[in-house]
Amino acid sequence: MNARIQHVELHAADDGLKPGDVMLNIENVSLSFGGVKAITDISFDIRKGEIRAIIGPNGAGKTSMLNVINGFYHPQQGTITFRGQARSRMQPHEAALSGIARTFQNVALFKGMSTLDNIMSGRTLKMNTNFFWQMLHVGPARNEEIAHRLKVEEIIDFLEIQAIRKTPVGKLPYGLQKRVELGRALAMEPDLLLLDEPMAGMNLEEKEDMSRFILDVNSQMGTTIALIEHDMGVVMDISDRVVVLDYGRKIGDGTPGEVKANQDVIDAYLGVSH
Ligand SMILES: Nc1ncnc2c1ncn2[C@@H]1O[C@H](COP(=O)(O)OP(=O)(O)OP(=O)(O)O)[C@@H](O)[C@H]1O
Ligand SMILES: [Mg+2]
Repeated sequence: MNARIQHVELHAADDGLKPGDVMLNIENVSLSFGGVKAITDISFDIRKGEIRAIIGPNGAGKTSMLNVINGFYHPQQGTITFRGQARSRMQPHEAALSGIARTFQNVALFKGMSTLDNIMSGRTLKMNTNFFWQMLHVGPARNEEIAHRLKVEEIIDFLEIQAIRKTPVGKLPYGLQKRVELGRALAMEPDLLLLDEPMAGMNLEEKEDMSRFILDVNSQMGTTIALIEHDMGVVMDISDRVVVLDYGRKIGDGTPGEVKANQDVIDAYLGVSH
C-alpha cells in the first residue's frame, strides 16, 4: 500500500487565479441574530495576493464577516463566491479544506500544550496516512510525520520563536501567544488567511514585529490576507485595500488613501482617536 494513493488534494494548489483576480466575492450578504442585524447587505471582494483590511468601530460586524467567510455563521441572505464557486453559505470544513485559515480575536490555543504542539495541531487537516500505518508508526506514517515536523520547524524559524518551542503557551506573554496562533494558522498552508485583530493588546515593538510577519507571509508565501485591525497606522501602512463597516453596513471601500479621505469614514470612525 502506498500512502500517496490515498492522498487527497486539500485545495487546488493552482486555482488558475492570477494575482489581482477576485478570489472571494461577498455579494449582498445579510446576517442577523434574532433582532440584531450584525451585517446588512454588504458586498466586497478580496483579490488574490492582496492584504485586505476590514475596519470599523466596535460592533460594526467585522468579526461576524470573518465568521461568514469561514462558515461559522450562515447568512440569511447573499452569496459567497470563493474561487468561482458560488454558494449561499460556507461550511467550516469546506472553508478549511479549500485553504482558508484564521486566527481569533481572543487567542484560541491549547494553553497547556507547547508552542511546537500547538503549531503541529494546525497540520491535522494535512495528515493523510490511514490509521493502520499510524498504529505501526512505520513506513508512510513515519515519513509523513517527519514531513509535518519539518514544515512546523520551518514555520517556527520563520516566526523566530525557536526559543519558546517547548514552552506551554499559557505561560507565554500575550504578544507571543498571538504569534504562535499565527503559526498554527500558517501550518495549514492557507491560500486565504483571516486575521482578527492580530495586534490587539500589543506594545509598539510587538506590533512592528507582527506587521513585518504579516507582510512577509503575504510576499514570501503568496498568501492572500484579510485583516481586522483597530490600529490605523498599521492598517494604512500594510494593507492594499480597506473596507469600512459601521453598524453592519459598508460605508467605505478603497485604497488606504481613498478611505482616509472618505467623509463618511472620517465621521463614523477615523475622526475619533484609535
Ligand atoms: N453569536 C452572536 N449572537 C448574537 N449577537 C452577535 C453574535 N455575534 C455578533 N453579534 C452581534 O453582532 C454585532 C456585530 O458584532 P461583531 O463581533 O461582528 O463586531 P466587531 O466589528 O467584530 O466588533 P469589535 O471591534 O468589538 O470586535 C454586535 O451587535 C454583536 O453583539
Ligand atoms: Mg470583532
